[in-house]
Amino acid sequence: MTAADTGLDLVAGGGGFIGSHLCEALLASGRRVRVVDNFATGHARHLSGVDVEVIRGDASDPEVAEAACAGVTRIFHLAARPSVPWSFEFPEQALQANHGTTVALIEAGAAAGASRLVFSSSSAIYGDDPALPKTEDMPPAPQSPYAEHKWMGEQVLRRAHDEGRLETVSLRYFNVYGPRQDPGSPYSGVISLFCRWALDGVPAKVFGDGLQTRDFIYVADVVAANLAAAAASGLAPGAVFNVARGERISVLELWQQVCLAAGCEPSEPTMLAARIGDVRHSVASIVAAERDLGFAPQVVFGTGLAQTLAYERQRAG
Ligand code: UD1
Repeated sequence: MTAADTGLDLVAGGGGFIGSHLCEALLASGRRVRVVDNFATGHARHLSGVDVEVIRGDASDPEVAEAACAGVTRIFHLAARPSVPWSFEFPEQALQANHGTTVALIEAGAAAGASRLVFSSSSAIYGDDPALPKTEDMPPAPQSPYAEHKWMGEQVLRRAHDEGRLETVSLRYFNVYGPRQDPGSPYSGVISLFCRWALDGVPAKVFGDGLQTRDFIYVADVVAANLAAAAASGLAPGAVFNVARGERISVLELWQQVCLAAGCEPSEPTMLAARIGDVRHSVASIVAAERDLGFAPQVVFGTGLAQTLAYERQRAG
């Protein structure tokens, strides 16, 4: 690290599904943690009993970002509205929530002398390029405002790094799942919704023919990727890494597996029109993250699914 380590990290979006798990891991590793979150999609209950300082505010506001970044050494930027359909419905709010926050955090982080920013980017950047698996050097083909905002974020981060303002690393998450993913909205991640529906004994809603595929990664593995990206040395400016397991499953198969894991007969899903901007197939090459970050996903799908179902059962029960 360039500047002296203050021992304090910022988790932007620390009240969220992934961010709250990251806060716990940072504390366990001996760091002090500050959270900035507007709690638009995160929840204060995710941080109850967790020893973090919380700034309740919108980090796309430069003043909030400045207060959040004061005295921090590393910034983990997970503050976003992580939904493709939401970004089509509310493009201006999405631009502000996603890209606006990235710009504000870079500016405030660099001014505060932070040494590194780790950005939660997205595999949505690859769009529908038919080549599989997706590798980081493929040309971007964003097909939603959400994907565009993540791509723009990667570009401004790379430039800030090139200019020597702060080091940056972008992690392109594929489909993340696990405890605390909120099934409470139609924009929620598919596994959280499928777990809820399986436990409630109601049919899943499936968009399109259900043969689209995704590469699901458990939240603890995503946390590990963040820690590795914050600690790695010798990375290229604005380095970009896929974060996934490198395996894919179709949405229909997923519904079958969730039902079996929940102990219920798979019911016929309700088939609905395909969603605008929905990518057809998504599976990652994780060679670069393995090589440069020492990243190795630990949690197999069956284990992660069982833990997600256990959490969802207990949360609703
Ligand atoms: C997800 C992430 C996004 C991330 C991207 C990377 C969420 C909410 N979004 O987008 O932040 O950047 O992965 O690939 O986690 N589906 C159904 N029925 C439903 C809900 C979804 O059939 O009720 C289908 C969708 O049409 C899609 C798939 O399941 O084909 C996954 O959908 P979703 O979980 O919303 O994630 P992505 O759109 O892939």
